[in-house]
Amino acid sequence: MEQNYSIFAYLISGIFFILALRGLSSPETARRGNVFGILGMIIAIITTLLLPVIENYVLIALAILIGGAIGTSIALKIKMTALPQLIAAFHSLVGLAAVMVAGAAFHNPSAYGIGQTGNIPTASLIEMSLGSSIGAVTFSGSIIAFTKLQGIMSGGPITFKFQHFLNAALGLILISVVILFCLHQTQNFFWGLSILAFIIGFLIIIPIGAADMPVVISMLNSYSGWAACGIGFTLSNNLLIITGALVGSSGAILSYIMCKGMNRSFFSVILGGFGGDTEIQSNAKVEQKPFKSGDSNDAAFIMQNAESVIIIPGYGMAAAQAQHALKEMCDLLKKKGVNVRYAIHPVAGRMPGHMNVLLAEANVPYDEVLELDAINRDFPSTDVAFVIGANDITNPAAKTDPKSPIYGMPILEVENAKSILFSKRSLGVGYAGVENELFFRDNTMMLFGDAKEMCESIINVIKK
Ligand code: TAP
Repeated sequence: MEQNYSIFAYLISGIFFILALRGLSSPETARRGNVFGILGMIIAIITTLLLPVIENYVLIALAILIGGAIGTSIALKIKMTALPQLIAAFHSLVGLAAVMVAGAAFHNPSAYGIGQTGNIPTASLIEMSLGSSIGAVTFSGSIIAFTKLQGIMSGGPITFKFQHFLNAALGLILISVVILFCLHQTQNFFWGLSILAFIIGFLIIIPIGAADMPVVISMLNSYSGWAACGIGFTLSNNLLIITGALVGSSGAILSYIMCKGMNRSFFSVILGGFGGDTEIQSNAKVEQKPFKSGDSNDAAFIMQNAESVIIIPGYGMAAAQAQHALKEMCDLLKKKGVNVRYAIHPVAGRMPGHMNVLLAEANVPYDEVLELDAINRDFPSTDVAFVIGANDITNPAAKTDPKSPIYGMPILEVENAKSILFSKRSLGVGYAGVENELFFRDNTMMLFGDAKEMCESIINVIKK
């Protein structure tokens, strides 16, 4: 009877998790999605705590207190721009947990209802080895992703001779050890396969450059889901199977969407290279070309006298936390009769939906925010493109220069607008490390300075 209650409760929380993912797919419904996720998690935790197998509530309460306190303090302190590495750090813990649970189940199989030591069913051994190897790859891979993004380790690809050969050989050895583990059920084979997977995780992530890291993180997110799913089978826990599969598949879909947004094939990301060597070009070389620069007076004059303005936010808006000032500036322009809309590139910023979240935080109406496909055709009939802290996502080299690392990436075609204003601190490059020839065009005006300060200054001019 109790078993039936828990299955039913897990089913309800599984449905809440699906509704949460559905809600998180759009900024309009994201808050509701979060509430569904929290509800699902509360039901899942209470149901698990009420299971008859749970005996030591003190230890569990202690773990929740310590983990909850650490999580809350990190969440309060973390900057929005550092979220990708935080996610990587958290994934590493999911991977480690999968290894630990598989280890515990192997050490004491009767506690998990999977037979006796030395006599575990083959299906459970396969689940354990899958959970542990995917978990170990996720653990070490995520740690490397974290150290690269945090700047602890060089963001560039680390490559050496016969690297792919070595990875393939280690992969084959891992499969052999998994088979031996299933045949002999010994501790040595279990820890052997976990250590091998740990080394493989390290080796497959070091050749990947920093620019591809967000894709890698979302891929590791997917791995951590599949590791949890594998462990769900070991523990015969339906909810872990459902949530693991949800995380695994949504992470894979997200990786696909990001690769498409950057026009990178998934395999070229995995095989590494992009984003390291090209990181920073010499700005001295860039600054020798002639360009026009203006100040907030010029920007306010041009935009107030325009009929239509399209705002293109990028990573620099997030770094400057300029979204509120930007919204105020746009509201003032709208009051003056200017048609203002926002254009969002799928990989603007440093994580999926980065710009949508920031604009939503500043209460920008959703119907003014348009995706790349919907807005590109409007640039030729637009008076001003106001590019705030964005660079790569507007760079025409993506269409014209086959040698450019961003070649093939779809861009917001701001070059078709009658005039372009770039709010950024210098002529410096963006994430992909490539020069943007738009800075030197006749119809471009550079507005140098911090994006937030520039918006505030434009607001003061308009208000005068
Ligand atoms: P970027 O090309 O990185 O350009 C951002 C610009 O912001 C920089 O050129 C910088 O120029 C400027 N900036 C920095 N701080 C600023 C501040 N305080 N005030 C004003 N400007 C500031 O950004 P983007 O156009 O958003 O493109 C995103 C890039 O990240 C793409 O290459 C994309 O492929 C990559 N990427 C994104 C994702 C996701 S999921 N979003 C994932 C992987 C890779 P200054 O130094 O001159 O100020």
